[in-house]
Amino acid sequence: MSIILGIETSCDETAAAVVRSDKTILSNIVHSQMQEHLPYGGVVPEIAARSHLVYLEPVITQALTQANVTLEEIDAIAVTAGPGLIGGVMVGVMAAKAMAAVHEKPFIAINHLEGHALTARLTDDVPFPFILLLISGGHCQFILAKNLGHYEVLGQTIDDAVGESFDKIAQLLELDYPGGPEIEKLARQGDPNRFVLPKPLKGKPGCDLSFSGLKTAVRQLIENQTLQNPQDRADIAASFQQTIADTLGNRLQNCLDLHGTGVKDLVIAGGVAANQYLRQKLEAVATLYQKRLVVPPAKLCTDNAVMIAWAGAERLKAGYVSKLDFAPRPRWPLTEMNELESY
Ligand code: KG4
Ligand code: ZN
Repeated sequence: MSIILGIETSCDETAAAVVRSDKTILSNIVHSQMQEHLPYGGVVPEIAARSHLVYLEPVITQALTQANVTLEEIDAIAVTAGPGLIGGVMVGVMAAKAMAAVHEKPFIAINHLEGHALTARLTDDVPFPFILLLISGGHCQFILAKNLGHYEVLGQTIDDAVGESFDKIAQLLELDYPGGPEIEKLARQGDPNRFVLPKPLKGKPGCDLSFSGLKTAVRQLIENQTLQNPQDRADIAASFQQTIADTLGNRLQNCLDLHGTGVKDLVIAGGVAANQYLRQKLEAVATLYQKRLVVPPAKLCTDNAVMIAWAGAERLKAGYVSKLDFAPRPRWPLTEMNELESY
């Protein structure tokens, strides 16, 4: 059995966690920078990198303390090495490399997307192959996870990520950042059928996604409504959310038609997976196709270091460790993971 320290700094969460290879989570510390980015309505990369620098050391110490382990007892250090905001990624990678060098521990560079993909194996013992719908502020794709390090991107957004759309519409509705939870709350009081909005790519072949046309339509709608009227605001939120649910459901059906054979499990991860309304819609599609729908707990769906530590545990077991000269990657598609041994 091995004990892995995981580190995550690719966006606006400074996170560290300790996970055992028998799937026990010994600690999970996440320091959110949300308050620092709130005035700007989105993540500011420069502020994020500086904040990781300030908080990473105490967050790691807290993760080790809570897990009741010392660095000497750790078997490997796993860190998000991309894709992400490169300033933040560099802070995490340099810290991990330094600890690995000083304590003579294996260093494991983890692709952040692989971390999201493998979480359901930690929480729900999902076997390969499975289909993952990753929906967050930065990612929006259907992934076929065939095996460790072997992923096929089945479809992805051709413009905005779905979480990004929630955040932008929330901003137009003068709601707080992050917008997803705010829209979900407001939508509960609204009529989802009041406004008919365009459903991007609906009925088109394949399983790519697109949200920019929808965003433009909602913006125009907002310009023509009185935002002072609470019912108008709630109806816009509900109609927007329903359109997203409908679009994702439609694309998921296409995805399962094309790639569902031989796959038993459908996993949804990423911050947007916290949305109960969307989950219900996607659950209905999964049931229709006789697939098990797995949604890891919300705190493991959003960015965290448990998923990085767990991916590290899987890689260590398979014998894949990284060289200390591994260069952090701002862009790192999952399809480029197939060169497992080479990094
Ligand atoms: O995975 P995450 O924490 O960070 C990354 O982007 O990697 O996802 C954050 C995104 C934000 O865009 C946020 O608005 C969205 O997830 N989100 C939601 C909900 N909760 C978070 N979107 C819709 N409904 C929600 N309940
Ligand atoms: Zn993420």
